[in-house]
Order: sequence, then C-alpha cells, then structure tokens
Amino acid sequence: MSKKPLNIGMIGYGFMGRAHSNAYVQVNNFFDLKYRTVLKAACARNAEKAKEFADQWGYESIETDWRKLLERKDIDAVDICVPNNLHCEIALAAAAAGKMILCEKPLALNAAEGRKMVEAVEKAGVANTVWYNYRRIPAVTLAKQLIDEGRLGKIFHYRAKFLQDWTISPELPQGGNGLWRLDAAAAGSGVSGDLLAHCIDTALWLNGRMSSLSALTETFIKERKHNLTGKVQEVTIDDACTFMGKFENGSLANFESTRYARGHKALYTFEINGEKASISWDLHDLHRLQYFDHRDESKIRGWHSIHVTDGDHPYMGKWWVPGLAIGYESSFVHQVADFIEGLSSGKPCSPTFRDAMETQVILDAILDSAKSQQWVNIPKV
Ligand SMILES: NC(=O)c1ccc[n+]([C@@H]2O[C@H](COP(=O)([O-])OP(=O)(O)OC[C@H]3O[C@@H](n4cnc5c(N)ncnc54)[C@H](O)[C@@H]3O)[C@@H](O)[C@H]2O)c1
Repeated sequence: MSKKPLNIGMIGYGFMGRAHSNAYVQVNNFFDLKYRTVLKAACARNAEKAKEFADQWGYESIETDWRKLLERKDIDAVDICVPNNLHCEIALAAAAAGKMILCEKPLALNAAEGRKMVEAVEKAGVANTVWYNYRRIPAVTLAKQLIDEGRLGKIFHYRAKFLQDWTISPELPQGGNGLWRLDAAAAGSGVSGDLLAHCIDTALWLNGRMSSLSALTETFIKERKHNLTGKVQEVTIDDACTFMGKFENGSLANFESTRYARGHKALYTFEINGEKASISWDLHDLHRLQYFDHRDESKIRGWHSIHVTDGDHPYMGKWWVPGLAIGYESSFVHQVADFIEGLSSGKPCSPTFRDAMETQVILDAILDSAKSQQWVNIPKV
C-alpha cells in the first residue's frame, strides 16, 4: 500500500535541526508506518546556510522567514529547533495555520507561555509533541516497563543528575549563535531548563507527579561579554541547580545539574530505589540498564547489567540483530516513528504539549523556590 506523505518544515539547522533531520531520513527505512516523511523545506535566516543545510540533508526547498514557511500549503508538520524564546511565538502561529507541531524542549520560556501553547494546539486540534527524546532510548523505555510491571515495588528514592563542564572559563561570552544558552533572554533559564528539564520529564514519566520541592541555584560567573551587544553584562541564568522534592507516590526526589562539573560532558544518570528492586541508567553507557532484584537467590544476588539489544527489548526488533547497540540519534527516530503511529492510531505521541507542561511548572517552581528560599508546592497543570 502506498504511504501518505508527511511533509516536514524544519526551522533551525543547529544541533537539533541535524538530529531531527537524521530521524526523518532514517525512520521509514526501519519502521513500517502509514506515512512517509518528506523533507519539504528547511528554514533559517541566512539563505546560504539554509541552502547548505537543505542540500546536506535532502530538503527540497528553503525559506528564510518561518512565517513564510507556515503560509505554505505543502507543509504538514513544523519542527521547532530554535532557541527557547522562539518556541511560543512560532508554535502559536503554526497552530493557527493548522500545522502539526514537533517542538523542542523545554516547551517554553515559562509556564505562562506554555499554557498559551497548549491552548493553541488543543483549539486548533493539531497533532503535537515535545522532543523529550530520552524517554525513547530503549534502556530508559525498558525501565518504564519494569516499573509499570511493579517489579520495583513501592518506590522510595528517585535520584538524577545531568553534569557538564563547558562553561567554566570566564572568557566564554554569552548570547548569539551557539551561546544563546547562557543568555536568559533567549534560554529562559540555565541548566534547569536546558538539562534538568530532561531529568524531570523522565522522572515524571517513570515515577509520576511531583508535589513539592526546594531548590538552590548558583551563577558562578556573574558577568560575561555579550555577543550581541559587545558589552560585559550580568549573567542571569542558573549555572548550577540542585533540588529535592517529593513525588505524589511518597518517594523522595534528589536532582542536580551543573555546567561546572570538570570532567563531565553530558553525564545524565538516574537511579530509582524500590522496596523490591532498584534500577540505574547512565547516558554514557546508554544501551545498558542496571537492575538489582532483592528477590534473587542470595548466592547470585547482585546488580545485573542488561545489554538492552535483544529483539524483545523496546524498539530493538526494528534495528539490527540481537547484541548490536544503537545510539543517541535513534531516540529521535523512535519519537518520529511514535508520532506517525499516533497519527494513524489517534493515540497522541507523548509527551504532548499538555504533558510537557508538567515539566514546565516544575521548572518555574525551581526558580521560584531558589529565589524565595522557600519550599514550594507544584501547581497542577
Ligand atoms: N532534545 C534534546 O536533547 C535537545 C538537545 C539540544 C537542544 N535542544 C533544544 O533544541 C532547541 C535548539 O537547540 P540547538 O542545540 O539545536 O541550538 P543551536 O544553537 O545548535 O541551533 C539553533 C538554530 O536556530 C536558528 N535560529 C535562531 N533564530 C532563528 C530564527 N529567528 N529563525 C530561524 N532560525 C533561527 C539558528 O540559526 C540555529 O540554526 C532548543 O530549544 C534546545 O533547548 C534539545
């Protein structure tokens, strides 16, 4: 049966523009889906760079203004891969234009913006998803299955870290291409929205709603030259953030993120301790899930290192033969596959904008708590 085309309009050609384009190129080669992705147009402000990107990945055309892209009748789905301060404006316009939206995380600069985005996509009735891609790393998806099967029993602790070290030099400027993450106007926040957002999304998915928290943030380098103004300006993002909290299921949350952990590039780890079993995962060894089951016979009891590459592991039956690992980029392929499955089945691809609001309100609560030095209740979405 011939597949329906799903015409993609990509906005942004940076790190995520590449990761998502790769997913659109690969997805139909591995997953049997009712739609076939078509790389219809790539949009960037600089025509030469947009053309270079389009040629590299196989986009049929370019646009230099995202508004023009949204006006095009031949675009079905818009992919928002630009800095966080543009997510809301583009998503509202895309929803009004009736386009499906795949938006990068965090959903928005703050919950107020996020609410407008949820309202817009729900009013327009357009399919939507947010790229919290770590859910779709097979070992993380396996963790979800083990928890949902009740193997861990009552959960007591959820611990997560996301550590980097790339902003330690005071000479590093803030703002503009590549460095917008250090500029609160473009990023909304620092490590909380950039890194902890992933840890929070995974945690909510695996362990349910969080009810309250207390956070501490720090900005180690107080001033940096701003690339857009040329002036030395105050740095207002959080360079590091640590928080503790409570989940509704009674378990305790302990989260930490920083860009000042010398020696760590992208060390995302989590560990969950339950009454009967524990699991832990490490992005640097992403195809393995560590599992300890107290019910094992004591002689052989210990941490199992599960190589998540068997045909019956999540997503793995679609790839190579058992024993062969896949990588970081595949999580994006899985999200596109699930998004397309959702179009056929009517079951939306999680996290939708509404689902991603759960993370967004926690991000606001983190900054509120750090500022007020108070314990904060997390509002319901
Ligand atoms: N899911 C993940 O793991 C993950 C990883 C990295 C980044 N992200 C998110 O993806 C988004 C993009 O991050 P990135 O790392 O790709 O950034 P990047 O700096 O590599 O790329 C940003 C792109 O946006 C373009 N851009 C900026 N303003 C624009 C405009 N007005 N019109 C069109 N294009 C414009 C830039 O030219 C560039 O191509 C951010 O929201 C970020 O938080 C998610």
